[in-house]
Amino acid sequence: MTDLAAELEAIEHASNERLAAATTVDAVDALRHEVLGRSGSLTGLLRRLGSVPAGERPAIGQRANDVRRRLETLIGGRLAELETDDLEARIADEAIDMSAPGRPLRVGHLHPVLTLMRDLREIFHAYGFEVFEGPEVETEEYNFELLNIPPDHPARDLWDTLYVAEPGSIEAGEPRPAADQTILRTHTSPAQVRAMRELDPPIRVLTPGRCFRYEAVDASHGFEFFQVEGLVVDRDTSLADLKGLLEEVARALYGRDVRTRFRPGYYPFTEPSVAFDIGCLVCGGSGCPACKRSGWMTILGAGMVHPEVLRAGGYDPDEFQGYAFGMGPDRMTMLRHGVDDIRLFFGADLRFVTQFSEGR
Ligand code: DAH
Repeated sequence: MTDLAAELEAIEHASNERLAAATTVDAVDALRHEVLGRSGSLTGLLRRLGSVPAGERPAIGQRANDVRRRLETLIGGRLAELETDDLEARIADEAIDMSAPGRPLRVGHLHPVLTLMRDLREIFHAYGFEVFEGPEVETEEYNFELLNIPPDHPARDLWDTLYVAEPGSIEAGEPRPAADQTILRTHTSPAQVRAMRELDPPIRVLTPGRCFRYEAVDASHGFEFFQVEGLVVDRDTSLADLKGLLEEVARALYGRDVRTRFRPGYYPFTEPSVAFDIGCLVCGGSGCPACKRSGWMTILGAGMVHPEVLRAGGYDPDEFQGYAFGMGPDRMTMLRHGVDDIRLFFGADLRFVTQFSEGR
């Protein structure tokens, strides 16, 4: 046996042993490089075949090629095997366990005041009311004049108004707002005239929305708050209809046992005017800061629509009468949940608001 033949045998033997021991793609790759690569041991051996005596050359050449092919096949097969194992391990690693419980999502819920406003909408819907929305930025005309509150009328003191300045007017130091001034609505009542101007009688509308006043903030007053306005105009409406409706609404919201009372009130846009009170549910009637220690909480003002307001809406007061009411959903929510400070509703404190998530 020539030296080359012995060398060939040694290469094959060593390669087989290393292949059997290799457990990674990298190890097999390295083996391939060292044996079959450009300067690999077997490649080098093949190059040296020329130096073999011509008589032995075909036999040893044949054997060397056989060894190369065998090694190529074995190495290739082992590589494929290891790559598959790798892939399976990766897939197992990344696999999703479909039976595992999901991560809980943080789900929000409606603000308690919004919930109450939706409940009101549902209750009034049953009485045939439709929602009619008005703008939050109003004109003095709709907010006051058309509601029978002329400029300089002392009743304007009831609504401390936030004026929307015209560009430049503040710098110019204008002492008084112009008569057609733009304001933030102080109540939802201006929607009454807008509704009448847009709809033909008879009508039953509900206007929910945000209102703004230049108020000193305390436990029961905010400078920004909600109202829900109601307006009914028909041929034969009376104060009795108004009282019956509001008492039913109070029972629907607070339960059959709720205590209610009507008091005489004053509003320029209703005649007669009333205030509607609920027995304070925060303190049960004994008196607390939320009810100003009176045991009662006023949740709305109401009355028979003033003829001037019907006229402003384009309706003939000899043919139609109406009643209207303006509810305070913030206070109504305080009563519902026994909250004693209105400021909590606007405080954005999650520890407070998330207490009202139940069932909503
Ligand atoms: N707009 C009144 C307020 O903000 C509330 C009110 C009173 C509304 C009587 C009405 C009403 O519709 O008839 O104080």
